[in-house]
Amino acid sequence: ARTPVNVTVTGAAGQIGYALLFRIASGQLLGADVPVKLRLLEIPQAVKAAEGTAMELDDCAFPLLAGIDIFDNPTDGFAGANVALLVGARPRTKGMERGDLLEANGGIFGPQGKAINDGAADDIRVLVVGNPANTNALIASAAAPDVPAERFTAMTRLDHNRALSQLAAKTGTTVSDIKKLTIWGNHSATQYPDIFHAEVAGKNAAEVVNDEAWLADTFIPTVAKRGAAIIEARGASSAASAANAAIDHVHDWVNGTPEGDWTSAAIPSDGSYGVAEGIISSFPVVSKNGKWEIVQGLEVNEFSRARIDATVAELVEERDAVKQLGLI
Ligand code: NAI
Repeated sequence: ARTPVNVTVTGAAGQIGYALLFRIASGQLLGADVPVKLRLLEIPQAVKAAEGTAMELDDCAFPLLAGIDIFDNPTDGFAGANVALLVGARPRTKGMERGDLLEANGGIFGPQGKAINDGAADDIRVLVVGNPANTNALIASAAAPDVPAERFTAMTRLDHNRALSQLAAKTGTTVSDIKKLTIWGNHSATQYPDIFHAEVAGKNAAEVVNDEAWLADTFIPTVAKRGAAIIEARGASSAASAANAAIDHVHDWVNGTPEGDWTSAAIPSDGSYGVAEGIISSFPVVSKNGKWEIVQGLEVNEFSRARIDATVAELVEERDAVKQLGLI
């Protein structure tokens, strides 16, 4: 039998955790033949709730679930981890300035990065979901100097999937007809969903849509503000769709992206497309042999350039702010 893969999930008692853990345990994260051991990391006050979720996981009798352990500290939580999903974060509360938010999250992602550095398995792969995801990933990576920077990523796959769905609806197609869509930059309202290289049933998406006003005034803001629209409608933030995107991200990272297509993920910039080197920014990416690679050679038109520059500028500001706070 295969050795189980250790998957650490932080914020395991939260709403994304509840939507995520059952799918991991059922084999959707890594594959239907890969046994997993879950390591749930929570703050002490939420350990009891995590125990309740673990009871339900037991009650599913998942054949691939080789064990569940619950921890209230990062050192134990990340010991031996092969995959880490960093979901728990400090949300922005009323009246909180950006500096306060970054500092509070530095207090979470710095120590978690250090624990990953000191105790995770050599093949550790990290996906940060907790917001501000890109910069939290940067903080964790900076605290883990012995782990290759490319192992720290942040999630823009939910934005990618939202964009697929909006474009399919607009063009009267289905999501499986759409390829090569890109989310650039930050997982925030400045993100840029780009359809200029996308294909709809084999034809260029921008030409099929042929409506720049729809792009600028409807598509981009709908994708970028979808999180707020879900809160407005559901009375709670996206959870199942966020969990689904986390599954997609890690699944593709480990198993590869399909030939002839790409996806979006926030990974450390190597300076491609004029994106400041070292920030964790969303790009068009493929995954090969367990590594993300930025799709090269795409032509960036004026419309796209301005929007990529704006979202990258925001990431650079966040990086400078956490640097000033001594968090990286
Ligand atoms: P939630 O509030 O339901 O759950 C968060 C959980 O994290 C709580 O159980 C809390 O106790 C735990 N937690 C807090 N600090 C922790 C720490 N230091 N270590 C371990 N656990 C800790 O929140 P929800 O809805 O599950 O969302 C989690 C995060 O995901 C939020 O930051 C949210 O903004 C973000 N998010 C990101 C998306 C993306 O596309 N990147 C999409 C949707 C949500």
